[in-house]
Amino acid sequence: MKTRIVRTGSPAETRQIARRLAQRLGAGAVVALYGPLGAGKTEFVRGAARGLDVREVVRSPGYTLINEYRGRVPVFHVDFYRIGSESEMATLGVEEYLECGGVLFIEWAERGEGILPESAIRIRFFPGEHENERVLEIEPDPWAEGE
Ligand SMILES: Nc1ncnc2c1ncn2[C@@H]1O[C@H](COP(=O)(O)OP(=O)(O)OP(=O)(O)O)[C@@H](O)[C@H]1O
Ligand SMILES: [Mg+2]
Repeated sequence: MKTRIVRTGSPAETRQIARRLAQRLGAGAVVALYGPLGAGKTEFVRGAARGLDVREVVRSPGYTLINEYRGRVPVFHVDFYRIGSESEMATLGVEEYLECGGVLFIEWAERGEGILPESAIRIRFFPGEHENERVLEIEPDPWAEGE
């Protein structure tokens, strides 16, 4: 599987990359985001939502656990940091959300690796050389040809 490494130098650039990636996502896609507090996962989901024609403001999921937005397909946003255990995550029913043709974004995916579908696009966030730089490792490469 090919991996794409992308550098971003600002939150706006991260949103722009996410937007372009999201334009390639089809119904049933799962995007798993890995990285610590402040890595830029929510910024990424904001940009991706734009790429899926969501007009609402994207906020971190809170007590509701999962946020839903209306875009060209239903967009779901969950943060595993707020969920206690993998069994609790399993009760969220990842599959059911996708059955309606939605796209699902998962923050803190490392906390629920066991319930991620094999087809998930995994995006790992690493710090860059300066404060506003991030390095994103995207697997599989959504821009690879012939896939
Ligand atoms: N290149 C960048 N990409 C994304 N965010 C950046 C970048 N440079 C600086 N930032 C800042 O880093 C912070 C990222 O916050 P964000 O809420 O997206 O992180 P997160 O990974 O979702 O954290 P959490 O685990 O708390 O949900 C924001 O304050 C943003 O302005
Ligand atoms: Mg977040």
